[in-house]
Amino acid sequence: MSETLRHVLASESPRSAITVRGWVRTKRESKSCAFLEITDGSCFRGLQVVVDAALSSASLLPSILTGASVEVVGDLIASPAAGQKWELQASELRLLGEADASYPLQKKGHTPEFLRTIAHLRPRTNLFSNVFRVRSRMAYAVHRFFQERGFFYVHTPIITSSDCEGAGELFRVTTLKQGTPAKPEDDFFGRPTYLTVSGQLQGETFACALGNIYTFGPTFRAENSNTARHAAEFWMIEPEMAFCDLFADMTLAEENVKYLVDAMLSECSEELEFFGKFIDKELVNRLQQTLQKPFERISYTEAVDLLLKSGQTFEHPVVWGEGLQTEHERFIAEQHVRGPVTIYNYPKAIKPFYMRQNDDGKTVAAMDLLVPGIGEIIGGSQREERLDVLRAAMQHHGLSEEDYSWYVDLRRYGSVPHAGYGMGFERLLMFVTGVSNIRDVIPFARTPGHAAY
Ligand code: 4AD
Ligand code: MG
Repeated sequence: MSETLRHVLASESPRSAITVRGWVRTKRESKSCAFLEITDGSCFRGLQVVVDAALSSASLLPSILTGASVEVVGDLIASPAAGQKWELQASELRLLGEADASYPLQKKGHTPEFLRTIAHLRPRTNLFSNVFRVRSRMAYAVHRFFQERGFFYVHTPIITSSDCEGAGELFRVTTLKQGTPAKPEDDFFGRPTYLTVSGQLQGETFACALGNIYTFGPTFRAENSNTARHAAEFWMIEPEMAFCDLFADMTLAEENVKYLVDAMLSECSEELEFFGKFIDKELVNRLQQTLQKPFERISYTEAVDLLLKSGQTFEHPVVWGEGLQTEHERFIAEQHVRGPVTIYNYPKAIKPFYMRQNDDGKTVAAMDLLVPGIGEIIGGSQREERLDVLRAAMQHHGLSEEDYSWYVDLRRYGSVPHAGYGMGFERLLMFVTGVSNIRDVIPFARTPGHAAY
């Protein structure tokens, strides 16, 4: 493993005879020397390498084009050029891997749409190297947030026989027999199984044993929504807390978002500068404002009222008892509150079986956290801990008590109030980077009709 450019560029003083490796981003040649800008992905900045024409390995220069990989030995010296502290005066240049003129990432700008078609090369561009460095740091910050608060990380199954959300948006798991899907009767698991839509139900079993837990992993939805914020495979962060009600749940969700925004501001400053300049001029302001005050909380009923009184014409009418559409959510977050907002106590009829019924008999203790520019980034609830009420809800939703007997057991043996939520990791990344399409914050996007790689 060689020293990263991130480390080299952070040097305090000049250094001699160091070795760096990377990919050539640009090459400029004059009579007396050539300038190669090389990057290695460890940071946004590149290192300028100066290759004197008199150097014997300068003969390699004609075959070193954009995209080639190189190894350079040289002295790190103060750069006379503006905007960079260091440059490398090469004493030896080696070509590791050539790239010919067909290399798609030539100097001109490329649209994100085009770059999606070359997802194997796009991490080498400015935009995507920034996005994926942020993704890695944010994933680490997610673990830190929960670990610092004493939560245990639980690995919930990817293959499951349950449909947590009851929306029927499931990918069925099947085996192949001589290349063709097996018949349902010779199902590998002896019963139909699916890719998980959420780790919540299994997470609840662990919360009702270990107290505070979280799961963070891939989840799958076979929903045919071709939007900029839906993917068929996305990562979800799902804490679940025993002895917790809806309000404490909302408070943790708010702290969670603020912690991650703070991590973005303090640990990704180079990347943030890029996003603020090229993606969204308001980004840094918006993130700073997110930290400044408590998130507003509005009940669903109040939200419907304010939408009806807004004087706005929406594509989808606003009706109490129906789900809020993205346009409604965005109106509330962007025009009414102008910041993050939590909507709670949704109509029972539009929510899954596990949410705790409120005393009014019409609503459940559910909450969604909405942010400007995106809409919902978190959905959660207090769970129904009363055996009789849960049974009635399951019956109403057509769920067999036999299939979910393990879930019912939690209410039979030492039931406790408990609550949790799911945060869409990609939606969070869209919020902190300003990137407007979910396809551009996940390494290999899976959306309807797209499963390349
Ligand atoms: O609101 P959802 O469907 O909630 C649940 O799955 C609960 N079981 C979570 C829980 O309480 N433990 O999904 C939670 C979040 C959404 O707010 C959204 O951010 C994200 O997951 N999400 C998606 N992200 C990308 N593509 C999709 N198709 C998504 N569906 C949900
Ligand atoms: Mg939701």
